[in-house]
Amino acid sequence: MAHVSLRGIQKVYPNGFKAVHGVDLEVRDGEFMVFVGPSGCAKSTLLRMIAGLESITGGELHIGEQLVNALPAKQRGIAMVFQNYALYPHMKVRENLAFGLKLAGTPKAEVEQRVLEAARLLEMEHLLDRYPKQLSGGQAQRVAVGRAIVKRPAVFLFDEPLSNLDAKLRASMRVRLTELHQTLRSGGRPATVVYVTHDQVEAMTMGERICVLKDGSIQQVDVPAALYERPANAFVAGFIGSPEMNLHKVDLAQGAVHWGGVQLPLPPAKAARVGMRQGAVTLGLRPEHLTAQRTHAGAVPLPGRLRFMENMGSEVFVHAEIGGLRFTSRVPPDALGDLATKARGEAHTFHAQAQACHVFDADTGVNLLL
Ligand SMILES: Nc1ncnc2c1ncn2[C@@H]1O[C@H](COP(=O)(O)OP(=O)(O)O)[C@@H](O)[C@H]1O
Ligand SMILES: [Mg+2]
Repeated sequence: MAHVSLRGIQKVYPNGFKAVHGVDLEVRDGEFMVFVGPSGCAKSTLLRMIAGLESITGGELHIGEQLVNALPAKQRGIAMVFQNYALYPHMKVRENLAFGLKLAGTPKAEVEQRVLEAARLLEMEHLLDRYPKQLSGGQAQRVAVGRAIVKRPAVFLFDEPLSNLDAKLRASMRVRLTELHQTLRSGGRPATVVYVTHDQVEAMTMGERICVLKDGSIQQVDVPAALYERPANAFVAGFIGSPEMNLHKVDLAQGAVHWGGVQLPLPPAKAARVGMRQGAVTLGLRPEHLTAQRTHAGAVPLPGRLRFMENMGSEVFVHAEIGGLRFTSRVPPDALGDLATKARGEAHTFHAQAQACHVFDADTGVNLLL
């Protein structure tokens, strides 16, 4: 158990590339923290610096109370699980789990006890006498997690551990890892976790808090609901949520946004926030806040056109054109109204929940309504 504290952390690679630009972050003791961002944003670099696998070229890293910048990986009390979980092919699961402990000189009885405990936690007691080639991808990944658990590390580090699994297995492993974290907590052994993923669904469902990264800088750190509802900037707004938030350059004047002959007046509280500001801004509207019918008081009618619909069963993604721009609307099938009978290209009046829209600075992307 330990908190992890990053203060002004920087990374310049030997070739001169600056990958991390001064990261400040406190991962709390026992917290499940997710680092999320697109490929190349330096998630792995940060994780590897915490692990001690990559040198830190600026700033201070503490694990617990200890400054660990110069501490070798082995002495940091961490365990890491990678995307490519190399199990020893000639060893049974039991031996794969025990190997690291034996190497460290742990007494035999304790090794056995820890292996059994990890197997129980991960519901894989029945797999202990199998060889890796006799395991499915998900089972092998559980063994890889088990190898981390037996070490009883102060901090667990995961680098995209589910990326090699198919979608269904990924979803069930997500739940399993979240449950494992909760089980350890309720059993009085909370685990500090830093979990790296490029998948915003994984981040939203697993993270107690999420750190959104872009180009080696933190964009926002918060609980999932806050990231979703109050994104600090247009990047976070567009990255979190599926289908993506509708984001478009529009004109702001007199407390309303305009584009292509369409007008969306901001509700008074939002209009007050933007004040006298005029000119280009980025409008953000989540697909669920653009409806096919007038379902909310205060909804703003937006004349447009149906492009096409994707029926997901429980909801329909309606692709629309409004004032010359493309929008996605997300509605339950029974809320389509007369849109259900319309053909591609037909005119339709959509409705925007203006109280849920966002306005971002067109250049910096900063959320102007926070
Ligand atoms: N050894 C290295 N030397 C130079 N640049 C590197 C090295 N490793 C990674 N990078 C660069 O640092 C950036 C961050 O990489 P990485 O941490 O792997 O990103 P992520 O895990 O978010 O995909 C990328 O632009 C990558 O090309
Ligand atoms: Mg990576």
